[in-house]
Amino acid sequence: MIEEPSVNNQLSSVNCYNMPSIGNIQLPAFPLLLAPMEDVSDPPFRAVCKDKGADLMYTEFISSEGLIRDAIKSRKKLDIFDYEKPVGIQIFGGDEESLSLAAKIVDVTNPDLLDINFGCPVKKVALKGAGAGVLKDIDLMVRLTAAVVKSTSLPVTVKTRLGWDDKTKNIEEVAERLQDVGIKALAIHGRTRTQMYKGQADWELIGKVKNNPRIQIPIFGNGDIDSPEKALEYKNKYGVDGIMIGRAAIGYPWIFDEIKHF
Ligand SMILES: Cc1cc2nc3c(=O)[nH]c(=O)nc-3n(C[C@H](O)[C@H](O)[C@H](O)COP(=O)(O)O)c2cc1C
Repeated sequence: MIEEPSVNNQLSSVNCYNMPSIGNIQLPAFPLLLAPMEDVSDPPFRAVCKDKGADLMYTEFISSEGLIRDAIKSRKKLDIFDYEKPVGIQIFGGDEESLSLAAKIVDVTNPDLLDINFGCPVKKVALKGAGAGVLKDIDLMVRLTAAVVKSTSLPVTVKTRLGWDDKTKNIEEVAERLQDVGIKALAIHGRTRTQMYKGQADWELIGKVKNNPRIQIPIFGNGDIDSPEKALEYKNKYGVDGIMIGRAAIGYPWIFDEIKHF
């Protein structure tokens, strides 16, 4: 049985200047995050995005099983550099022990935060009970997250989707329960697993999570932001603490600076 501490007495992680913090990482007001992207967000790409204004970046997702078996491909993705800071390392997995051991390996590489991927929709991940597959079993998601939080001294964050499919959009419950076991920020991609990358991202539910008075951690919105106009519109409309940008930065890293100047 997981102990879920009450958050009633916690101070919000967004200060009066609207500058969110993740654990002890202070971010600027309305930070722009570079989304983790497999085979895309490697160190050279991150260096360019940092130079063009990304405020927080993540590695590509790394298999916890690969890390604990010392697979070269997984190890290599742990490479991070001082000039990228703040930077998060993202891991995925569906097993408490593997995720805990992987979290300890991540700890040693000293990133600013550890992110858990509960959003990857691809079959080889989601149908093996990791990534978005975990959205089918919220109790498991809570147990996995609690195990990671216990295994690392780093702030733990989560990136996930609205739910598994249209009938099970459980992100509101997910946000509360993950906050209760100690995550320090939540990034939400406004699609379900079955949507994959199709259709339009639904930001209404992201806004609802953000505006839930029980939620004290920063909520970052993700999905389809591809212009400064849209970034401003969604900031005002949904009140999120920052936005995460993926595909629009591929081949156009200037998007971060352009949004800031807009
Ligand atoms: C090529 C590619 C690779 C991705 N790899 C990851 C990943 O490793 N971890 C993750 O959490 N999301 C991954 N995603 C999802 C993105 O982080 C993001 O949630 C999604 O693209 C929606 O945001 P966007 O509309 O700004 O692109 C990937 C997306 C793409 C297009």
